[in-house]
Amino acid sequence: MSVVKFKYEDDICLIEVNNPPVNAISLEVRKDLLNAVIDLENDKKIKAVVICAPNRTFLAGADIREFGKNIDGPILSDICNRLEKLDKIVIASLHGTPLGGGLEVAMSCHYRVATPDTKVGLPEVLLGIIPGAGGTQRLPRLAGISISLEMMLTGRHVPASEAIENGIIDEIIDDKDTVLNGIKVAKKLIANKSKPVATYLRNEKFINSEETKISIKKIKDKFKSKHKNLFSPQAILQSVEEGLKLTFEQAIKNERKLFSDCIKSPQREGLIHSFFSERAVNKIPELKNGKSKSINKIGVIGGGTMGTGISMAALNSGFSVVMIEQDEQSINKAQEKINSTYERSVSLGRISANDKQRILSNFKGLTDLNSLSDRDLIIEAVFEEMDVKKEVFKKLNTICKNETVLASNTSYLNVNEIADVVTNPERVIGLHFFSPANIMKLLEIVVAEKTSNDTVATAFSLAKSMKKIPVRSGVCDGFIGNRILSKYLVATYHMVEDGASIFDIDRVIRDFGCAMGPFQVIDLAGGDIGWATRKRKAHSRHKDDRYVEIPDRVCEKGWFGQKTGKGYYLYGKDVPFLTPNPEIDQICNEERKRAGINQKEFNDQEIIDKYISSLVLEGVKILEEKISLRPSDIDVVYINGYGFPRWRGGPMNYADSMGLDKVLNNIKNYEKEDSRFWKCPDLLTKLVSENKSFKDLN
Ligand code: 3HC
Ligand code: NAI
Repeated sequence: MSVVKFKYEDDICLIEVNNPPVNAISLEVRKDLLNAVIDLENDKKIKAVVICAPNRTFLAGADIREFGKNIDGPILSDICNRLEKLDKIVIASLHGTPLGGGLEVAMSCHYRVATPDTKVGLPEVLLGIIPGAGGTQRLPRLAGISISLEMMLTGRHVPASEAIENGIIDEIIDDKDTVLNGIKVAKKLIANKSKPVATYLRNEKFINSEETKISIKKIKDKFKSKHKNLFSPQAILQSVEEGLKLTFEQAIKNERKLFSDCIKSPQREGLIHSFFSERAVNKIPELKNGKSKSINKIGVIGGGTMGTGISMAALNSGFSVVMIEQDEQSINKAQEKINSTYERSVSLGRISANDKQRILSNFKGLTDLNSLSDRDLIIEAVFEEMDVKKEVFKKLNTICKNETVLASNTSYLNVNEIADVVTNPERVIGLHFFSPANIMKLLEIVVAEKTSNDTVATAFSLAKSMKKIPVRSGVCDGFIGNRILSKYLVATYHMVEDGASIFDIDRVIRDFGCAMGPFQVIDLAGGDIGWATRKRKAHSRHKDDRYVEIPDRVCEKGWFGQKTGKGYYLYGKDVPFLTPNPEIDQICNEERKRAGINQKEFNDQEIIDKYISSLVLEGVKILEEKISLRPSDIDVVYINGYGFPRWRGGPMNYADSMGLDKVLNNIKNYEKEDSRFWKCPDLLTKLVSENKSFKDLN
């Protein structure tokens, strides 16, 4: 069946694209569109053309799955150029999300009409590429340089109301029927004898002047630090800047070349891997027959860091929330934190005072656990102690309705054990939010042994309502994210004891693209948390495990990081960011001496190799144990929860790009030094022997 259909109404030709789910502009669509344009070039009767896609959305962009493959056939850029030169008025009737190539098609039409809820954008930068079908040249002609650059450098989706103000669209019609909208406009334009005006001829907002140079400089400065390490934002700027000095035709050729350079870049591969991985997380066995329960009323137990964040995340998504604390003083403190967070949002203009009032009208802070009897879902966020959690779940077992879903936000504890204190454990699940829970997108959904498919489906649907990215995890100490974190922290402690500087390690990992180095992360989260975990696990540590005491020495001094003003770095009003704590090196030296270590020097590559190898090593074990269903889920966890550079596609994808044979080789070498820590997983050896990569397991 053809993906592009034609209909004729008097002297109007209607081109309807139908390529579900999002009308991506695949090779088939391009072939059909090109044929349509060729027909129209030779047609003398048709006076107006309407392009629309009446199902879910107008064209949401090029078909990303085709990138990096050798595909012969018409190029969208050429189709847009020919479309623009037609001698009849071409109207794009927009709805949904005309993005990337979709907006580029629309911009090469002569008129754009949209439904009020349409959002347009050129999000190519998020995929490591630049708009490659005239977008870098036509958008500035319609909207001006500053707005266009801001849109292309952020990938932001712009609502119709803003797009019309900026000249990107011409009209909004409050009717969902895009076919009728297009025809209505076509008839109006024919009646007015309107002539087609090609966007490439509209140069009034695209002028090579001093003023333009100043605007471009301002934008470059604004995005400099955000786009450090990234290739495609530079290419976008280059295409626009150079376009100012070229004819349109030359500028399009230049854009095409820059587009091709981006397509070849590993960053494009990493970013597109991230895009598809974030969509793959929802493909899990439990959702095949699990049925989501309806959730309206949520209970949160504990009003500390996580309880307050989770409550706000739920309130922001329109849920009714009752939060329970141990006593009046604690609940008042928690309420004050929530109130002040919303107050800050009001003062920053993010929400109105009315919004704040509306949101908080759904919130109650109480101290009696019995008040949770009417809740549909409860999220426990009390202290990280098994006995405390079990006590809470035992009480919930008697207080709540039988069908209430009971979730724990534990970071490390065994959810099976928690579930066992409840008479119907199939309704117990782990919902591991990340701090700050009202901001961070990641949600690990921990499926315990007895968790029912319906409970899993409910958790995934909750994540969707809260606009979180859910990743399924099995039960183990730390689940996917924190288990891997524990591993690579130990690997970095080993490196420090062997002679590497803490501050070099952080720098190298930042330079690699991570948001923070591991010691910065410890200072942010509080060194005491890891210290408590190390003490908790001390009895189960094998006598032959290498244990580095440096972090314990730091904690013994009361240096827990930001909250105590001192950790691996110093903190304070007048202290510059990343000022090393001058006493740390001495602690390291003393510990190296005490442990009888022969110090060695580490170069940057050695640091990064060991860091990545430890991450991947634990990732592979997690796959072997089926804690994670696929390597790409680990990538999603690391990108969205641990600041791993998105453009590297996550640690498992990065390992693929290095070559698994190289990763295996590194691990085998480390294994010679410490066979317990670096014991090589069979799965990795098997993949290398079969010449496979993690991608083959996705
Ligand atoms: N190509 C191929 N598949 C795509 C796609 C695309 N451009 N956009 C979405 N899909 C697929 C998704 O992978 C998903 O598939 P699945 O059901 O098998 O998992 C399905 O369409 C639905 O996508 P979402 O789950 O993301 O649906 P939402 O309704 O939440 O969001 C959307 C829809 C806003 C369109 C979102 O999918 C999106 O942002 N897509 C990417 C848009 C984009 O980046 N366009 C530019 C492409 S690059 C380009 O056009 C180059 C040009 O300049 C030449
Ligand atoms: P926190 O110490 O800030 O807050 C815990 C709160 O629970 C305290 O306010 C305490 O008064 C309250 N509480 C204790 N027992 C209670 C009870 N029986 N009834 C009602 N309230 C009770 O701790 P935080 O950081 O919020 O952690 C909570 C849980 O979330 C822990 O399991 C932790 O491992 C987990 N977690 C923490 C993250 C973090 O970054 N802090 C991230 C993800 C999970």
